[in-house]
Amino acid sequence: MESHSIVRMGIVGAGTWGATHARILQAHPGAEVVAVCDADAGRARDLAGRLGLDTWYTDYADMFAHARLDAVSIVTPDYAHADIAVAAAARGLHMLIEKPLATTRDDVHRITEAVAASGVRAMVDLHNRFSPPFNVAKQAVDRGDLGTLQTGYMRLNDAKWVATDLLPWAAKSSILWFLGSHSVDTLRWFFGDDITRVYAVSRSGVLRDLGIDTTDVYLTTLEFARGGIAQMENGWINPNAMPNVNDIKFTIVGDKGMTSIDASSHNLITTYTENKVTVPDILVNDLVFGYPAGFAYQSIRSFIDCLTTGEEFKVSVEDAAKVSLVVLAILESAVRREPVDVTY
Ligand SMILES: NC(=O)c1ccc[n+]([C@@H]2O[C@H](COP(=O)([O-])OP(=O)(O)OC[C@H]3O[C@@H](n4cnc5c(N)ncnc54)[C@H](O)[C@@H]3O)[C@@H](O)[C@H]2O)c1
Repeated sequence: MESHSIVRMGIVGAGTWGATHARILQAHPGAEVVAVCDADAGRARDLAGRLGLDTWYTDYADMFAHARLDAVSIVTPDYAHADIAVAAAARGLHMLIEKPLATTRDDVHRITEAVAASGVRAMVDLHNRFSPPFNVAKQAVDRGDLGTLQTGYMRLNDAKWVATDLLPWAAKSSILWFLGSHSVDTLRWFFGDDITRVYAVSRSGVLRDLGIDTTDVYLTTLEFARGGIAQMENGWINPNAMPNVNDIKFTIVGDKGMTSIDASSHNLITTYTENKVTVPDILVNDLVFGYPAGFAYQSIRSFIDCLTTGEEFKVSVEDAAKVSLVVLAILESAVRREPVDVTY
């Protein structure tokens, strides 16, 4: 991209997070959302209306053929990214793909091959790398303050309402795709190493009894190529009264130091009313004087910045592909109830 050009963006998937992409891209001085597509015409029309666009699409191939686009945001459900990414690559469109990159080995390879063959640029929105506490901790690791990393621990859980009320497709995905992809990416990023072997144990029943047929929780041990070990917990059965939708705890131990992060009960702000205690989000989706300030917004802005300057994206398709292949090994391990080697 030329450094002075405005990136003409199309959005595929006008749901909760697609609307967020549109809002953030629209607020970026270097981007303009010029087309919107959703398989559900009502959603496409609503989002187009909010953006002041008088046309919208229900078929992404139609949008790619007729709208004049430089790049697309792919914000469809977890399992529905690959066909769209392959079609975008064939049209020479750069892309910001929501996490997880894909949920099958075949889809992972179809996307990486299409991106490589077309020469387009692609970033995957594994945005925890942009979270201020995690980013500051990673800078310390990179300076060598903690020495060589030995162990890591990451809990990333959601309250139940995410599975029961927010995502209509929760039973067609998994908490490992929805949140575990962030955990795997964060741990790989900190260790700067590939995960070679995983062992996961899972439990089901709580959500099934609420009518959502998906696994409740996974506890997973990860082994890295150079000897590091880590554990991660991903569930979506935390109580709805949690003051923050996410429960996020993280500790990393090296041979010279340790860092711990509590990104959910962060103690920076607590609000009490007559019947509720909340810990308002000041990290992920917050606005400051109406300006999008949270890190979930920063990662979307960063796509435009890097596309415009030519700088490398902060999350590559190659990294995101490895994350998906690790998650596939975790799912297999939980079913087989034994450790599984990750196949790349
Ligand atoms: N980075 C984050 O923090 C974050 C947060 C929420 C969701 N997400 C990710 O964003 C993606 C979307 O999640 P969501 O919560 O917005 O889901 P959603 O269900 O609210 O929206 C998805 C939309 O995609 C549309 N769609 C499905 N298949 C389509 C197709 N082939 N062509 C066009 N439209 C199609 C659906 O009609 C729906 O409107 C998921 O991958 C999810 O994991 C990321």
